Amino acid sequence: INDLLTKKPLTGKKVLISAGPTKEKIDPIRYFTNHSSGKMGFALAEEAQRLGADVTLVTGKVSLSTPVNVKRVDVTTAEEMYQQMIKHFQDKDIVIKAAAVADYRPITTYDKKMKKQPGNLVIEFERTKDILKELGDIKTTQYLVGFAAETNDVINYGQKKLQDKNLDAIVINDIQAEGAGFAGDTNVVTFITSGGIQKNIELTTKNNISKQLLMLISSDLKDDTK
Ligand code: CTP
Ligand code: CA
Repeated sequence: INDLLTKKPLTGKKVLISAGPTKEKIDPIRYFTNHSSGKMGFALAEEAQRLGADVTLVTGKVSLSTPVNVKRVDVTTAEEMYQQMIKHFQDKDIVIKAAAVADYRPITTYDKKMKKQPGNLVIEFERTKDILKELGDIKTTQYLVGFAAETNDVINYGQKKLQDKNLDAIVINDIQAEGAGFAGDTNVVTFITSGGIQKNIELTTKNNISKQLLMLISSDLKDDTK
């Protein structure tokens, strides 16, 4: 009876979250990556689990411990993240892509250390797959949420990503705003749904933001007749 009284909003929901940076190898010593700490994705996983969800977390290399009762899958590259997200996508109710995926990887990788040479170094890069867009193309009943890291014209760029990637909602980060960004424990975001709901979440901890985002997602799910 206690269970009924305290029924959590995400009970019975299967949630897939991606977090952290991807790392693209250049040679055995060097790689190409970004500043993502994984904190936002890990906070989402922790809060989703607390709200009753069955959570799978696909993460790039981060130095964070796994939240309790969360299934963790570790990956390194964008290609590996793509493979694991596709593998775990089908039976999920909610999929949130908080990872900072490298848009490019070196075309050639070396098995031996590159020795320095006179003059400049030019490394040629090729595009990685846009994982979120691929998920948007194949989704059926999944509620798909993306993140957008922007520095200017943030709402417009975010709204464009929401449409282009066939998302149900997007969480827009102005990474230059006070208290926002990759490394810290706080963030400030705007949440926009494909149905036109727009909510600003003021500067607070990433755990607090996560809880609010998950409550917004949960109520948007219920309104859905898709
Ligand atoms: N994303 C992804 N795969 C990529 C690049 C991005 O899945 N190869 C996802 C991110 O996880 C995020 C969303 O797409 O949820 C937006 O990422 P962002 O870097 O802000 O946008 P891009 O579409 O990569 O466009 P740009 O970097 O040019 O702004
Ligand atoms: Ca990008």
